[in-house]
Amino acid sequence: MSTLDIDRIRRELPGRSILYYATVDSTMRAAAGCEPGTVVLAEEQTAGQGRHGRSWHSEAGSGIYCSVVLEPKPALTLALGLATADAIARATGLACDLRWPNDVMLGGKKVAGILVQLADGNAIGGIGINVNHASFPPELASEATSLRLETGAPACATGILLALLPAIDTFVEMDGDTILRRFARASSYAAGRRVTVEQPEGTIEGTTAGLDPAGFLIVRKDDGTDTLIVAGGVRAAGS
Ligand code: BTN
Repeated sequence: MSTLDIDRIRRELPGRSILYYATVDSTMRAAAGCEPGTVVLAEEQTAGQGRHGRSWHSEAGSGIYCSVVLEPKPALTLALGLATADAIARATGLACDLRWPNDVMLGGKKVAGILVQLADGNAIGGIGINVNHASFPPELASEATSLRLETGAPACATGILLALLPAIDTFVEMDGDTILRRFARASSYAAGRRVTVEQPEGTIEGTTAGLDPAGFLIVRKDDGTDTLIVAGGVRAAGS
């Protein structure tokens, strides 16, 4: 089953270097070593990578599995999350939330994820969007959703991708302060949200208190002290 109309994508976005695979282990691996600007797309990944060494569920023909070769810059993960939410909104009308740093959320569940890796002096920006999944494996079902599951109707992956690539161009061009401001405005997790965070030394609970100038999340514990969260693991408290 094919999700992406690759001929239309190439026609409507001329001049882009787009590598397209029916099946690949990971678009992150395929993008490593490619020129900046290269886009790698796949219908299916057999070894899709998530953050922190996790795998990314990459069912054939149901999702967008995309990596883009970019110049490294601050707050890139946040910029790509903003671009993904923007593309979903433009293509479907759905308003996503952003859970710092890399989760794109709908109805309290994760609909897309961002992974940024450095390779050969470039940044590989990986974006996975759950588009037409009808269900998820039991271990993901309480955490993951798809656009189709949220609306009850199939979504057009090609249309989302045609919105996504220009949105990436727009957001990665923004300076770091603008990205942080836009993220803080778009994310219900950035400030005033009761959260738990898994840290190496244990789980902490507190209320989010904005982003620091480097884009890290500040969590204020009930004793009034602030902890700077640098690596994710953020969950809505009680979820
Ligand atoms: C996460 O939320 O853990 C990040 C998920 C990133 C998944 C995408 S799918 C396209 C690209 N190729 C991969 O192997 N991973 C990223």
